[in-house]
Amino acid sequence: MTPIPFLDLKAQQARIAPELRRRLDAVLAHGQFILGPEVAELEAALAAFCGAAQCVAVSSGTDALQIALMAEGIGPGDAVFLPAFTYTATAEVPLLLGAVPVFVDVDPSTFQIDPAHLSARIAAVRAAGRLRPRAVIGVDLFGQPADWPALGAIAAREGLFTLDDLAQSFGATLGGRKLGAMADATATSFFPSKPLGAYGDGGALFTESAERAALFRSLRTHGEGATRYEVLRTGMNGRLDTLQAAVLLAKLPVFREELAARERIATFYDQHLHNLVVTPARVPDSTSAWAIYAVLLRDAAERARVQEGLRAAGVPSAIYYPRPLHHQPAYRDAHDGTALPVSEALSERILALPIHPDLTEADTARVCAALAAALG
Ligand SMILES: Cc1ncc(COP(=O)(O)O)c(C=O)c1O
Repeated sequence: MTPIPFLDLKAQQARIAPELRRRLDAVLAHGQFILGPEVAELEAALAAFCGAAQCVAVSSGTDALQIALMAEGIGPGDAVFLPAFTYTATAEVPLLLGAVPVFVDVDPSTFQIDPAHLSARIAAVRAAGRLRPRAVIGVDLFGQPADWPALGAIAAREGLFTLDDLAQSFGATLGGRKLGAMADATATSFFPSKPLGAYGDGGALFTESAERAALFRSLRTHGEGATRYEVLRTGMNGRLDTLQAAVLLAKLPVFREELAARERIATFYDQHLHNLVVTPARVPDSTSAWAIYAVLLRDAAERARVQEGLRAAGVPSAIYYPRPLHHQPAYRDAHDGTALPVSEALSERILALPIHPDLTEADTARVCAALAAALG
């Protein structure tokens, strides 16, 4: 039995081959491999796509997060609040800058950062008096938006900088608006497996502020000023390659159709799986980019059994995330020991099924049948 691909970048490449070839040939012909014209063209196209005033293309989602926090001057003595149930990059960046990541639990049904727990964690940090609350990173997990109205209200009340980690959810909407302008700054990723993925590392920053965007541009090129050899601040080499911009420009014209295909697959899964497992709760008044379609099993033992049954039937699955970040060795010293029971339970029960725009209806049905059989 042919295994179903978890992700099928080859099928996508075949669909976009002529435009991809044209775009790559243009870069090979002009030879401006660093900050060539495709980078500025991509920045304008991405800003228009998500309705943000400013876009700065950078070398990865992680670097986008780092540049945003560097621009804000986040460093030693600062507390940066973020969900415990996310990819390591969200927490790694504050720690690299000398700040302390303060882990917040997530909502048990949407898996997004829990605003009530965020308020409680801010109050606890203020009461302890050791760290200055400075920023909140809301992660739009698995394709769905975080509760930005609630996060924005808390940040305004507490005087915190808001950073949207949109790495997994570029293309999603909340309240009829694309994500990209929900926070003071937004960072996304073009890692190849993301809904809009390059053929290597890449990322972008969005903001409504021209001053902040200018700072992002300076930081992405070694802190340079008006001329190349004027160094105003400590920056980094954080530029997006022109070749990756060309790949993304070839993918952008089909991105809306791909989002619609992902939505069709998610709806099919919802309809065929809701009696078997806990299917993902939809965030109200939103659309998802469906980077990941994750169901919940009863416990770790049932998940292991189901994963093995799926594997035997040629259906790949993945666990995002097998451990919440506060239980990872890298973050143990930074964590204050607070229990985060929802993140801990999700890590035991969660399982992601294949979802990508080239998954056929027959394959989607095969995933559902394999899951039903694996559950017995
Ligand atoms: C939530 C989240 N934040 C940040 C990143 C980092 O993005 P990148 O791999 O482009 O550095 C990822 C990507 O894997 C992610 O899933």
